[in-house]
Amino acid sequence: MRKKLVIGNWKLHGSLLENQALLNRLKQELHDIEGVDAAVCLPYVYLYQAQAALQDSTIAWGAQNVSQFTEGAYTSCISAQMVAEFGCTYTIVGHSERRALKLESNQVATKRLLNALHAGLTPIFCVGETLDERDGGMAELIVRNQMLNVVYGLDSQAFALAKKLNMVIAYEPVWAIGTGEHASPEQAQRMHAFIRMMIAERDREFSEQIRIVYGGSMAPQNAESLLSMPDIDGGLLGRAALVAEDFIDTCRIAS
Ligand code: G3H
Repeated sequence: MRKKLVIGNWKLHGSLLENQALLNRLKQELHDIEGVDAAVCLPYVYLYQAQAALQDSTIAWGAQNVSQFTEGAYTSCISAQMVAEFGCTYTIVGHSERRALKLESNQVATKRLLNALHAGLTPIFCVGETLDERDGGMAELIVRNQMLNVVYGLDSQAFALAKKLNMVIAYEPVWAIGTGEHASPEQAQRMHAFIRMMIAERDREFSEQIRIVYGGSMAPQNAESLLSMPDIDGGLLGRAALVAEDFIDTCRIAS
């Protein structure tokens, strides 16, 4: 039985003042909600604030990305090791908003994933197809390509780390992100089962253990039907993560 995981991706939002109010509220209200893991992934500059606010709470925190480099002359890059110093549990890797800006190929995303694992962070590795790709009947092929390096490209040491740290996969159909139009529970379930099957090709035990969360306009209104699917183990929330009630209600539904 996999415990559900609800993650808020704050993207490029927040201010010290607004964050404090939101973090305090989440800390207070999620305290009593058992049976679900909750986490927030904030902009780097607020990780220290998250650590201070959440260190004695039930909520984990993390970054939205880490560099493919570990150190050197790479202006503006933030390494996985640096992120780990702020007590982070998670980091998102390979989000479609990064892929769309051409900042992340599958190869670069894999390097970031590896750096996250070696720094002791649990990666939330994002995959998902665009609308054109879905309409062209390519959805599974695209997701398979995005997953290939994760399933077959990691050497046995990295794969063991991924298991130990309980790596998370987020299926985020690009056409559902920020649009208010979520994938149907059946559509999402089909892709989650497909991803789990791919992982089983390498390691059946891990395929049963790994959490595959759904992202793309998830909100309290649709969380119940999505989360009732057997292979949907939680959510990666964008817009709904910025509204305390919506994030808390989604956690409650998931619990
Ligand atoms: O990382 C989160 C996803 O991109 C989902 O964003 O809930 O605003 O659609 P959204």
